[in-house]
Parts: sequence; C-alpha cells; structure tokens
Amino acid sequence: MRLFVAVTPPGEVVEALRTATAGLRELAPDLRWTPPEHWHVTLVFLGEVGDDAASELAGRLNRAAARHPALSLALGGGGRFGHRVLWTGVQGDRDGLRRLADSARAAARRSRLPVQHRSYRPHLTLARADGEADLRPLVERLALWQGLPWVASRLYLVRSRLGAGPQGSARHEPIASWPLAGC
Ligand code: 2AM
Repeated sequence: MRLFVAVTPPGEVVEALRTATAGLRELAPDLRWTPPEHWHVTLVFLGEVGDDAASELAGRLNRAAARHPALSLALGGGGRFGHRVLWTGVQGDRDGLRRLADSARAAARRSRLPVQHRSYRPHLTLARADGEADLRPLVERLALWQGLPWVASRLYLVRSRLGAGPQGSARHEPIASWPLAGC
C-alpha cells in the first residue's frame, strides 16, 4: 500500500479554498489541479508499506496522536516548489504541526519504514505541472488570500491508489484516523 499521514481541513474550509482558487484554475487549465476532496496537509509520506508494517505503524500513530493537542490552523497565502508544485500555506500553530509531523516520522522510523529527511514545510498542494510552468502569477494571486480558521482534531493515515482516480489520477482513501489529545 502506498501511504501517507496527514491532517485534513473540514468542509467549509475546503469550500472557501475552492471558491478562492476557481479563478486560478481558469488562468492555468493545463496544470493538474488537485481535487478538493483530496485536499490535505501531508505530515509524512511513506511510499509503499507492507501489511505488517502498516499495522505496527497504525498502533504507533494512534499513541502519537494521543500525545498531541488539537491544532488551530488556517490556510493562506501561496507558494511553489520550483516550477512544478503550487501550494497554499498553513498558518496558525505551525510549531504544533511540526511536532506532530516529527512524531509521525518517528512512528514510521520505529516501524522500520524509510522516511525522507527533507525539512518539513507545511503546505497544501493545489496543482502540479507536468513539465515546467511559470507559477509565479498564481503565487502572487494567492499572496493575500486568507482561509477560514479551523481546528485539526484528528490524524489520518491515507492510502493513495495510483491510477485509480478520474483520468488516471490517484485516488486517496483514509484507512484509519485517530483523535488528537482531548478531542
Ligand atoms: P504534497 O504533500 O506536496 O501534496 C500523496 O502522494 C501525498 O504525499 C501528496 O500530498 C504528496 O505531496 C505527498 N508526498 C510527499 N513526498 C512524496 C513523494 N516522494 N512522492 C509522492 N508524494 C509525496
């Protein structure tokens, strides 16, 4: 199974982002826009995980979730990774989100899964370019956008099925989730 760990914004936050990005989609129809039902903030990407490691990981994530309080977050602004990935940022309790990501990473390592060493940059991916694209005008348009505040109260383990979504895209399926402390 191809897995990742994430927090997900609630419906009203997704709706506000959908409205805010509608004009951007029209400006750049050639980008692969991520579907709103997939919108999430990745904490750690795991890649292919076997059944045994996945069940050990689930137990560890369950315990990790119980050690972290709910997070007050908001989406807002824009950014890009190179010329290929357009994203909106995550504001609010970024330190708490980073601590949760560190715990999820540690849970993966203890489950003997390889985890990437890149530094964690909280973001929600909006679109990807197949080749290289000039994403700067889109980033500029997002600069002043501010989403609704929300409280992340659960940690999600999500399966990504490559090629199982519309037009050969991936399909995301939450396979487990756990409440954060006090939720
Ligand atoms: P993202 O966090 O920028 O959106 C499932 O593929 C999720 O894991 C996506 O949200 C994706 O990017 C994230 N991810 C992080 N590292 C990845 C990698 N090496 N390959 C695929 N997806 C990765």
